[in-house]
Amino acid sequence: MSAFELLPPAASTMAGRVDTIFLTLSALCGFVALAIAVLIVVFAIRYREGASVDRSNPPTRNRALEIGWIVVPLVIFAGIFLWAGADYAELRRQPADAMPIFVVAKQWMWKLEHEGGRREINELHVPVGRPVRLVMTSEDVIHSFFVPAFRIKQDVVPGRYSSLWFTATGPGNYHLFCAEYCGSQHAAMGGRIVAMAPADFARWLESGGPTSGIAARGFALFRRYGCSGCHDPRSTVHAPDLAGLLGRSVHLADGRSLVADEAYIRDSVLLPNRDVVAGFEPIMPSFVGQIAEDELMAIIEYIRSMPGA
Ligand code: CUA
Repeated sequence: MSAFELLPPAASTMAGRVDTIFLTLSALCGFVALAIAVLIVVFAIRYREGASVDRSNPPTRNRALEIGWIVVPLVIFAGIFLWAGADYAELRRQPADAMPIFVVAKQWMWKLEHEGGRREINELHVPVGRPVRLVMTSEDVIHSFFVPAFRIKQDVVPGRYSSLWFTATGPGNYHLFCAEYCGSQHAAMGGRIVAMAPADFARWLESGGPTSGIAARGFALFRRYGCSGCHDPRSTVHAPDLAGLLGRSVHLADGRSLVADEAYIRDSVLLPNRDVVAGFEPIMPSFVGQIAEDELMAIIEYIRSMPGA
C-alpha cells in the first residue's frame, strides 16, 4: 500500500466506472482552469501598460469563435450527462437475483439481517462476485450508508425504505460509514463490510448456528398481528392474496398500477388506504406505531417465501 492514496481501494463492480467519470471530470476541469490561468498571465504580460503592441482596430466579432464556444462545451457536457446518467441508472437497476440484506439504522449503530435470519451489528459479511441488495430503513433520524471502497452511498430515512446494491469484487475488509450527521455519536457510527470468497461465506453463514430464519419469524408475526385472519386464502374476509406478491404488477382501485416491492408492502401495512388494490374495500387497519421496523422486514420476508400462486 502506498503512503499517498488519491482514492480508496476499488472493490465493487461499479467502482471503476465511478472512478473513470470522476477522473475524467477532474482532468477536464483541470485542463480548463490551467488554460485560463495561462492566458491570464500571458495577456497580463503582453498587454501591460507601456507595452508596445498594436491596440488599433480591435476585432468586434468572430462568428467561428462564437459558434465554437457554444457548440463545443454543449457537446462535451451533454455527453458527460448521458455517460453519467447511464451509470447512475445502472446503480439504480437492481439485479433480480441479488441477495437481500435488511438494514435498520438507529442512533448509533447498523443492524443487519441476512435472508436466513443471521443478524449482525456494524459488520456485514458478503460473498464476493454475487450481487447484494440492501433494503434499508431507520428507527429514528436520517442516516446514510456509505462504503467508499464500493463507491456507494444512500440516505437511510425513517418512515420509508431505500435500497442500494453492489457486487464485491475482491475479498477484504472495507469501511462502512454513516455519512449523514445524526447526533453526538455520528462519528462513531460505522463498521466494516467483510467480503469473502463464496465458500468461506457459506461456511461463515453456517457457523452462526441454527437460526429460526427471518421468514419463520415473519410467519409468527404474521399470525400474532392478525394478518393471517384476512390474508389467508381460506379466510372468509375478502383480502388480497399475498402469495407471489413481490415483483408482481398490482392494479389499484384508482386506476394506477405499480410493481409490488418491499416499500409497497411496508406502505400497505402502515398506510393501507393509500394504495388500495382494485376490487377490494379499504377496510384494512393501519399498523402505524404497533409494529417495529425489523418485524416489518421479517413479515415481508415471510411474504416472499410464500409459495407462488
Ligand atoms: Cu448515523 Cu450519522
